[in-house]
Amino acid sequence: MNNFDYYNPVHVIFGAGELSRLGTEAGKIGKKICLVSYKELTCLHGLMQRIRRLLEKEGLEIIPFFEAEPNPEIETIKKGAALCKREQVDLIIGVGGGSAMDAAKAIAAGVCYEGDLWNMVYSRHDAIQAIPPVEALPTLMIPTLPATGSEMNNCAVLTNRTLGEKSYIWGNCLYPKVSIIDPELTLTLPAYQTACAAADTISHVLEIYLNGEEDSDLQHYFQEGVMRTVMDNVGKVLADPENLSARSHLQWAATCAINGWASPGDAWTPMHQIGHVLTTRHKIPHGASLSIMMPAWMEYMADRRKTQYYRFAVNVMQINPDHKSKNEVIREGIIAFKSFLKEIGVPVSLQAMNIEPADLPAIVQDVIKISFNEKGVLHANPPATANDVMRVLEVAF
Ligand SMILES: [Fe+2]
Repeated sequence: MNNFDYYNPVHVIFGAGELSRLGTEAGKIGKKICLVSYKELTCLHGLMQRIRRLLEKEGLEIIPFFEAEPNPEIETIKKGAALCKREQVDLIIGVGGGSAMDAAKAIAAGVCYEGDLWNMVYSRHDAIQAIPPVEALPTLMIPTLPATGSEMNNCAVLTNRTLGEKSYIWGNCLYPKVSIIDPELTLTLPAYQTACAAADTISHVLEIYLNGEEDSDLQHYFQEGVMRTVMDNVGKVLADPENLSARSHLQWAATCAINGWASPGDAWTPMHQIGHVLTTRHKIPHGASLSIMMPAWMEYMADRRKTQYYRFAVNVMQINPDHKSKNEVIREGIIAFKSFLKEIGVPVSLQAMNIEPADLPAIVQDVIKISFNEKGVLHANPPATANDVMRVLEVAF
């Protein structure tokens, strides 16, 4: 079992109807609030009006910043941070999916940061100079999408269009002070976004399950629990979008998948690293990039970690191992997982996203540039070479 430090100070308020506590909870932290959300607010219009009423009822002042885009860009973060400085806000509230919450976090850090805000971001050729943020304004998160878990972790993902890079910032100052996780806010989420969110949640634990330390009993049971919870509930939601119970399970699973509980001492995200390049170069939604990468990675890598892939087949995909060889069980597990992804309606091939074989070398080069470590490999267990990444992408066709 790994040694680890664990720290998570987020005050989580979870449950249907809990958004009603927003004004009181926000008022305990600040008085002048920057409200961060998306450019196109049509689907969140009613929610925003309700949030305004809850905050104004407590006498709180609101500065709107509805400029976050999917995969928030560093230029937007700079603009938001400048607004918050100018207006001297003392609390930032992020409303939306991971992109809105990540924008809120990055803006909160950007307000207190000296120098170019892109220096906060880890990427391969910036890694030496990356200076993580150590101070940030307090944030309060209101997730409307059960996926990224940004509401309970210390990470944000930003994009630099000029450099063509998507990468992370980390820092304990990025933990939200409070997160109000109200599953009622996900009831109107369309089927495709719900399915992509489910794939993203599964990927957050699956990557570590398949790449991390094998001697981690509680961790593996926890990861299996997250994956089973998503698999048991996403179908119910797709059949009945207003199933609040199933929506609640998806929401809590998403938060717990990536708040540190499922991965103490392990941090493995090779599929995400390839997925980020697919998003940046080919505009594939984050969850869809993972639904494509997961089965391809598994098909290619299974022989290298047979114990974990066998365990996945039996404990997660519930394959009956009786009278079958280890390899047969492993293969059945991967096939069953791919079938599950197809059934919920997410893509499982690059072809489905109009990517051509000729696009692959440039994708591999970007993965090398952004995510390969100083030893010239992608952080995975065992480490993945450039040839491995190419082969995985080929399997993904
Ligand atoms: Fe993700």
